[in-house]
Amino acid sequence: MKHWWKNAVIYQIYPKSFQDSNGDGIGDLRGIIQRLPYLKKLGIDAIWLSPVYKSPEIDNGYDISDYEDIDPSFGTLNDMDELIKQAQQLGIRIVMDLVVNHTSDQHPWFIESKKNRDSPYRNFYIWRDPVNGHEPNNLQSGFLGSAWKYDKNSGQYYLHLWSPEQPDLNWSNPQVREKIYKMINFWINRGISGFRMDAIELIGKDPDKKIIANGPKLHDYLKEMNKYTFSKKDILTVGETWQTNPKIIEKYTDPKNKEFSMVFQFSGQGIDTIPGKEKWDYKSVTPQELKKVFTDWQVGYNFEHMWLGLVLENHDLPRVISRWGNDNNLRIPCAKMFAIVTHMMKGTPFIYQGEEIGMTNFHFKSISEVRDIESKNMYKERLSKGYSKAEVIAEINAKSRDNARTPMQWNTKRNAGFTTGTPWININPNYKSINVDACLKDPLSIFNTYKRLIQLRHDNENIMEGSFRIYENQNQNVLSYIRQSANKKWLIVANLSSVEQNFSSGYKTKKVLLTNYRPRKSMEKIRLKPYEAFVVSVC
Ligand code: NOJ
Repeated sequence: MKHWWKNAVIYQIYPKSFQDSNGDGIGDLRGIIQRLPYLKKLGIDAIWLSPVYKSPEIDNGYDISDYEDIDPSFGTLNDMDELIKQAQQLGIRIVMDLVVNHTSDQHPWFIESKKNRDSPYRNFYIWRDPVNGHEPNNLQSGFLGSAWKYDKNSGQYYLHLWSPEQPDLNWSNPQVREKIYKMINFWINRGISGFRMDAIELIGKDPDKKIIANGPKLHDYLKEMNKYTFSKKDILTVGETWQTNPKIIEKYTDPKNKEFSMVFQFSGQGIDTIPGKEKWDYKSVTPQELKKVFTDWQVGYNFEHMWLGLVLENHDLPRVISRWGNDNNLRIPCAKMFAIVTHMMKGTPFIYQGEEIGMTNFHFKSISEVRDIESKNMYKERLSKGYSKAEVIAEINAKSRDNARTPMQWNTKRNAGFTTGTPWININPNYKSINVDACLKDPLSIFNTYKRLIQLRHDNENIMEGSFRIYENQNQNVLSYIRQSANKKWLIVANLSSVEQNFSSGYKTKKVLLTNYRPRKSMEKIRLKPYEAFVVSVC
């Protein structure tokens, strides 16, 4: 069976920051509908929507209080139906975020669960008695501090691997699983084409043994979920899984296992963290390190038995050019280089909103500008440990999730065309020069490189099906690889550095398919420009 998602390109929308249609400063579904023609122009096949379910928004929608309704700040179920319909008319599918490791503490199940120990919903969550008057163990939450919160009323602790307002569901309870599967089918029946599975590697946990990711029951639950939901239609599922290696990825995505269509390739995400330290303890990254990361994205995998989602950015990561490249004088070639390297690989590429116009990190000057719970918690904790404000703000500027969450930059008008009201988070002041309008007018824009890459993927099956092989070159700052199928052979070359580099290849260029500088006639003993990258068909 040829799955629709195999040669698709997926565009992630962070709804809160994409387009506001009613002037309340928060992006919404009607705003997304307005912008569908833009996405059609880019050529993407599907939109992954970060959560739009009803939520108190402690973690921007990753804390859901009603799985079968839309948060009023984003619109209504009717708006959602309209989005699905209008997108479909343009040949664009909708993929939703599925957040089922935890709910909001405002979800009726948790409200009931918390009432008393005998509540019929008690066992929907993970409750434990204190041990010697303390937390059951020292499990830590993803947003700092203990993962256990004490409930005075019942004298027990509940587990929250994220904030205390995000209690973990108890997947070992068959009633929980049944309700979740029903909810998934509710959305499939509404016309959804896929799900991005939030924190999914955590659902099989054994908190008493402190086994969190890849727990003993994980794969059983995934197979069961698949059986009762996704397998009925050709539904795309992409797992947000961090604790992986090629073997684990194969387990998740081997079609015969019937778990996920693919998982995100997150290998190398830690290269800008000082080894052994927290993500905030950042360091710069060398082109040699990048070369290793990109090589590891493809080598060592048997794509006959697995599949990957290729990601440079998402709503949890800083902007890639600011992080691993150049967001200044070389911003344009650098952004195009990252795009070319990723989109010519095997797997399904995901584009995060704004990546296609080369949006950059934000320069936060004070914590009052920061909205993300993770950064705010870290700020408090580090100040209490004696860090200076300036140090912590520098860490936020380098690594905060808010870097990716500033509003989409549409044009040079007030608030970058995002809202007529007051935006919920500041807009990057560079919108006057970095915006969609400017990109659409410029045939050499980053947008047009993405558009061309998507077109190439749609028109050439060798990108999806062909083999991948590293083309050895002596220069550690230059990545080169070959994509080959029965009748096509393409060479991809990328200077991962900000200075000129030597490169040489004996291949003869048949056709230059894409480049971020001028097309080259020969590849013999050339000096690559800073971040120069190209795709050529060769013989
Ligand atoms: C991963 C999501 O991408 C992130 O934004 C969220 O905070 C956590 N999961 C918790 O749901």
